[in-house]
Amino acid sequence: MLGCLAPHPPHVVYAENPEQNEAFSEGGWETLRWGYNRLARKLKTIDYDAMVIFTPHWQTYIGTHFLGLPKFKSKSVDPVFPNIFRFNYDISVDVDLAEKMCEVAGESGIVTKMMRNPDFRIDYGTITSCHMLNPDWDKPLVTISSNRNADYYSAEVMNEQASALGEACARAIEESGKKVVLISSHSLSHRHFVTESPLPEDMSREHIYNHSQYVWDMKLVDLMRSGKMREVIDIMPEFTEQTIAETEAGGLTWMMAAMGYPNYPAEIYGYQSVIGTGNLIAAWNPMEATREIVL
Ligand SMILES: [Fe+2]
Repeated sequence: MLGCLAPHPPHVVYAENPEQNEAFSEGGWETLRWGYNRLARKLKTIDYDAMVIFTPHWQTYIGTHFLGLPKFKSKSVDPVFPNIFRFNYDISVDVDLAEKMCEVAGESGIVTKMMRNPDFRIDYGTITSCHMLNPDWDKPLVTISSNRNADYYSAEVMNEQASALGEACARAIEESGKKVVLISSHSLSHRHFVTESPLPEDMSREHIYNHSQYVWDMKLVDLMRSGKMREVIDIMPEFTEQTIAETEAGGLTWMMAAMGYPNYPAEIYGYQSVIGTGNLIAAWNPMEATREIVL
């Protein structure tokens, strides 16, 4: 099990100009994209069966849901940035693995459901993170919805529920005998601009929005570099509230719980602002022989 923190601003897909996206760009956000490209090349050298992604942009209010049909094909339009992201997707799902996760999580007391609606539209978080990590789209996915515990209760409850889900998913993966790449799809600090520049990829406009948010992000990066993931998850409720971070959905907590709170250094692939939000690409590689100091 290898884990990736994979932020999903649609801007990075827009900047790559893949054939699936209708919009055209002149580039932009290279620090993030080159970091993604490097991690994608590394994943190509690793043998695995499926990508398992937890996304904040498939929000469910009763339980945790799992994609449950072998194929989903349609167009995903970003609700906030339709000018830059209109992506024609054709994805495959590892339904057996999704059902196993649904079953094991259900047995541990978590409310779960399989999504069997063929017209269900895949969220842009899943598409952006998966496209950047595997532009060939040659691995099946399992997408997990984010139950909005932070909205109902508090970031503390989110942390506990996401941990329980992570532990259940890890048991399901172990029982399946499959090798997987886990993906936590979100940025870190999430305070963003309220107006868009006339040309979205105009990098003269891109900058960190708020120094306090940046300092929080760097605190997390330092802890990740030093292999202190238990501590990162312990301070997650405070970080989430202070930086209005997308960690509110529980993705990083879910992934770290599934991986047993790594005490080895994360591989850091890049950090850059997108419309002022803090975006970090990182990976947790349990195999010491292939673990690198990237940046
Ligand atoms: Fe997002």
